[in-house]
Amino acid sequence: MNAPATFPSRILTVFGTRPEAIKLFPLVHALEADPRFESRVCVSGQHRGMLDQVLAISGLVPDYDLNLMRPDQSLDALTAALLTGLGQVMDVERPEWVVVQGDTATAMAGALAAYYRKIPVCHVEAGLRSGNIHHPWPEEINRRIIGTIAALHCAPTETAAEALRRETVDRATVHVTGNTVIDALHWITARIAEQPELASGLSELERKFGGKRVIGVTSHRRENFGGGMEAIAGAIRRLAARQDVAVIFPVHLNPNVRQVMNAELAGLDNVALIEPLDYPHFAHLLGLATLMLSDSGGVQEEAPALGKPVLVMRETTERPEGIEAGTARLVGTDEDRIVAEAERLLDDPAAYAAMARAHNPFGDGKSSARIVELLARG
Ligand code: UD1
Ligand code: UDP
Repeated sequence: MNAPATFPSRILTVFGTRPEAIKLFPLVHALEADPRFESRVCVSGQHRGMLDQVLAISGLVPDYDLNLMRPDQSLDALTAALLTGLGQVMDVERPEWVVVQGDTATAMAGALAAYYRKIPVCHVEAGLRSGNIHHPWPEEINRRIIGTIAALHCAPTETAAEALRRETVDRATVHVTGNTVIDALHWITARIAEQPELASGLSELERKFGGKRVIGVTSHRRENFGGGMEAIAGAIRRLAARQDVAVIFPVHLNPNVRQVMNAELAGLDNVALIEPLDYPHFAHLLGLATLMLSDSGGVQEEAPALGKPVLVMRETTERPEGIEAGTARLVGTDEDRIVAEAERLLDDPAAYAAMARAHNPFGDGKSSARIVELLARG
């Protein structure tokens, strides 16, 4: 740990993509409400539309917006621009801490730029490991790099904390805080309860698909580009041929995803390819879906909290807790396997009931408060 904190302590929270924004807005809300901190937010703009959706609903107004998204840009170009831009903001702000979340290019470059300035890094969602540097790619390496830099590791679960302790990480800097995604889910659920119209935009689709069982889909992983995406599309096409099923698929804005999904699935009767949903609408979709097909990290964490079966279309997962809880099942990206596993859940009520039980392996919704106290210790 660093020297005891002097207050107010300036915290620079850095993020750039949709999932980071969802998982960090509860922490930024908590920092803003606490007089011990001067909260600063820098968004890289690695995502644009999907990031802005989260900023709008959470009410966060960044102090800095680097606006770095370029269509289909390479990881090299993105990383170079991130390092330069984030470093410049850190030079202006000279914060006591830089906070990064997860495993994106923004998080990795944010940690590295802070390290170059000897600013301690707090890593939110630390310690996730698949053990395979190609799955998820490049996230497994991003999070390992951040893990070697961070001075404060906020692990979502004991499993993640244990993974860090097995590495060359000072055990005293590893804390189990839970995952802030559950804080976000609680916050958005409360907002929707107060203002149901925040999530009412799917009602027309719900009417159209009335009586059918909804399969919610998300997909965007880089390691699935090409053959994996084709197989996922093929599986959706076959499932949607059933008259008792409808697919609602908010398609990620990455052109590598959209080209395949539009080519394979546009115009099918039982498939709604829609624009990315804002967080209240996506939470609503999680609620109404019979099951989810997803390669997303965040969805693997949200689904168990809601008791929603999720078939994880990846070869490995760094989130074994959902699988152990029984709500998530790893099905890979083989078309036949995805169809078989989904049909098992659709046609076998006992198999469905065994997965559709709520668990909270990822937290209790109080993770941000724990992280704030750790930051206050200095
Ligand atoms: C990024 C993260 C990934 C995370 C995912 C969440 C990296 C290397 N990857 O992947 O870890 O799981 O976000 O969704 O950090 N685009 C838009 N508008 C948007 C967002 C993306 O048009 O709002 C398009 C752009 O053409 C952009 C491309 O998608 O260049 C890829 O975006 P990028 O952030 O590089 O990668 P993702 O695949 O989104
Ligand atoms: N999500 C959303 N709208 C969508 C799809 C997903 O708000 O149309 C949310 C979802 O609830 C989860 C997060 O985005 O919290 C997951 O983001 P994504 O799948 O892009 O990234 P990952 O979690 O795989 O890094």
